[in-house]
Amino acid sequence: MKKRTQFWVAGSFFCAAIVMACQKEDNLLSQNSTTTETKTPTIITPSNNELNTARVTLGKMLFWDPILSGEKDVACATCHHPNNAYTDGLDLSIGTNAVGYGTSRYFPSSNTLPLIKRNSMTILNTVFNGMGSDGSINSETAPMFWDSRTHSLESQALEPIKTLEEMRGHAYSESLSLDSVVARLKNIAEYRQLFKNAFGNEQSINSTNISKAMADFERTLVANNSPYDRYQRGDKSAMTNLQIQGMEAFTEVGCINCHSGPMFSDYQLHVLSVPDNTKTGGTDAGANGNYSFRTASLRNVTLTAPFMHNGVFQNLNQILQFYGNIAGGDSQNPRVNIRQVDQKIRQIRVRNNQQRLIAFINALTDTNFDKSIPARVPSNLNPGGSIKGF
Ligand code: HEC
Ligand code: HEC
Repeated sequence: MKKRTQFWVAGSFFCAAIVMACQKEDNLLSQNSTTTETKTPTIITPSNNELNTARVTLGKMLFWDPILSGEKDVACATCHHPNNAYTDGLDLSIGTNAVGYGTSRYFPSSNTLPLIKRNSMTILNTVFNGMGSDGSINSETAPMFWDSRTHSLESQALEPIKTLEEMRGHAYSESLSLDSVVARLKNIAEYRQLFKNAFGNEQSINSTNISKAMADFERTLVANNSPYDRYQRGDKSAMTNLQIQGMEAFTEVGCINCHSGPMFSDYQLHVLSVPDNTKTGGTDAGANGNYSFRTASLRNVTLTAPFMHNGVFQNLNQILQFYGNIAGGDSQNPRVNIRQVDQKIRQIRVRNNQQRLIAFINALTDTNFDKSIPARVPSNLNPGGSIKGF
């Protein structure tokens, strides 16, 4: 049976309170206060993964521990760091074989690994990926990655471990990567205890349980108390006049045609013609090879520059310029014909609304999320990998 978790929203809008109605032991997602509720859509959490403190504790250790990477130099947190709202601040992520953090990250010696062709996505609010306009979510089918090629946080969590240029490196082959990581964890007494606490016994160290613990930790990384949320809950002073005008412009201009619902994403794939990032020396044709990418959530987007799937835009002004150009009939990628660009773009009228729109997007920012960095991880390696200074 699927577990149903109640998720309260104010009106048709997203609000800060999530009540874990089925979780006796914890209230992990409800750290933000409750409010007037008018609807109770549901989050369906994966039927075989229970959210509890022991799993979250283990998941956090795994997220920060570079023991999961071939050369023991990269952790999930290397590219998803709280100081950058759980991204890395780079246009294109840099994985194993490199040192340093964020824009100071580099390869100290010659690098033979392929470059990562994508921009790091925030982990904040990924518990809500796939949320519909009514606030309902199915966590088992929740889309992951810029091209939605994977579904659910559980399925996503093992991918970076297997990927050559992200965490695996040349230490072992892809087919041996998960077994190798499991063998390492089994050798660490502290992990044996943490898995026992989370899954019942010391024999429970396996890749499925790694993914479950990691997913549960990610489910606690929530930032949903932005000025916009507070405004929707009745605090009319939470947004400035310019932001309120921007909220109206967001609808009038047509951004809402794709950036819809509580997460400001329809979670659908659309063709926009984002320019290629020339650093990759190639092109990224996205989902289905037709240059479609998933509508990005705009929550906390002001904290996660550079933007788009390949980090090609530095700021929101450049993005609005881009939308103005494609709406005007000018494809911004020579490999995409303007006729392929989503029809909804043609209806966009950015006109003189730049400042208002940017003000509104700013109102979707909530900086009050979990920024804690573990002092140590069970392997005793550096938490977050080779990212000195953070
Ligand atoms: C080398 C940098 C790097 C590392 C290490 C890394 N990631 Fe990522 N992460 C990325 C990039 C880049 C993307 C987007 C990839 C794509 O679309 O193909 C991403 C996407 C994701 C997403 C999808 C978010 C969404 O909204 O769809 C999740 C979840 C995630 N990573 C979690 C993890 C976890 C868990 C780990 C550790 C097991 C990890 N990442 C390790 C760079 C990294
Ligand atoms: C046809 C659907 C569609 C419309 C309309 C649309 N967007 Fe987007 N938006 C997307 C998609 C798809 C992406 C991701 C594209 C990519 O990475 O290649 C995106 C990305 C973004 C990003 C970058 C997010 C990030 O994390 O990098 C911002 C900011 C943004 N859109 C703002 C807007 C604004 C403002 C408007 C209105 C002027 C708008 N969008 C209209 C589909 C749309």
